[in-house]
Amino acid sequence: MKLAVLGAGAVGRSVVELAGQYGHDVIALADSSSGVVDAEGIEVEGVLERKDQEGTVGDGTPEDVLAAEYDVLVEATPTTLGDAQPGFSHVETALSRDRHVVLANKGPVAERYAELMALADESAGDVLFEATVGGAIPILSTIDDFGPDQITAARGVLNGTANFILSRMAADGLDYEHVLAEAQDLGVAEADPTFDVDGTDAALKFVIISNVLSQGEREYTLEDATVEGIQNIPGNALDLAAEDNRTIRLIGEATPDGVQVAPKLVPQNGVLAVTGTRNIIQFETENAGELNVSGRGAGGPETATAVLADVGRLPPLE
Ligand code: HSE
Repeated sequence: MKLAVLGAGAVGRSVVELAGQYGHDVIALADSSSGVVDAEGIEVEGVLERKDQEGTVGDGTPEDVLAAEYDVLVEATPTTLGDAQPGFSHVETALSRDRHVVLANKGPVAERYAELMALADESAGDVLFEATVGGAIPILSTIDDFGPDQITAARGVLNGTANFILSRMAADGLDYEHVLAEAQDLGVAEADPTFDVDGTDAALKFVIISNVLSQGEREYTLEDATVEGIQNIPGNALDLAAEDNRTIRLIGEATPDGVQVAPKLVPQNGVLAVTGTRNIIQFETENAGELNVSGRGAGGPETATAVLADVGRLPPLE
């Protein structure tokens, strides 16, 4: 497949670096905020040459990239709320050209799900978005394997930054600001880490899961979520919890009634007490009890792994 990548953050760059392992060709990488193709700057060999050989990417603005000859648009620009722009327009352009789209950007899937599905229905291209939830963990593909009807609820930890902060503070007694800066250095935090610590990022992921589970019967957005972050947890709360063999995790939940995200006390050795940037999703199934899937839920190569798994699921275009 020929990939055009929009978004030159940790995820977009990792997609470019790993695409060759999967036998895919990257024709362009554009940074939508600066509006220029950033290929030389990231030291990914060959990208610029391939772009030049194609001779189709013009001056390298996102619009040039969208007009180029690719099979799959990888949309990895930062998540925005409300109208989910400019990501939504990028997706719309690619689908109107009957190209496939793989999203790492959560905005179009969480905020405009019904419109997104309608655009996909009208296009010869497909839309996949495993990378929007839980990094490398197979969440949407697990729902697909079981069948959405077989899953009655989902809960767990889906923000690596908040989890990294909580587990580092508890284990090493480091302060909040110090640990948040470490998460940003790791390339795990969002461009604006407010969404990580105030619960918005986790809520968007559970909204996406709710939309997939509901199969179009009801559309969920952030408005359907009750959200509380980790920024107001009192300084001594982690110590007090530890005295009782418990700890605090930012737990999200998706049920047919909506989405909830809030810090919760969990057993210190329980499955939900994942550490570092790990995520965990716990599905309640109709006939098979509880199913836990855990692993690296954030980061460039981890999220790029989910993007490239999606690319591998796409059929060849005519
Ligand atoms: N910033 C997110 C996290 C990763 O920390 O989990 C992307 O969804």
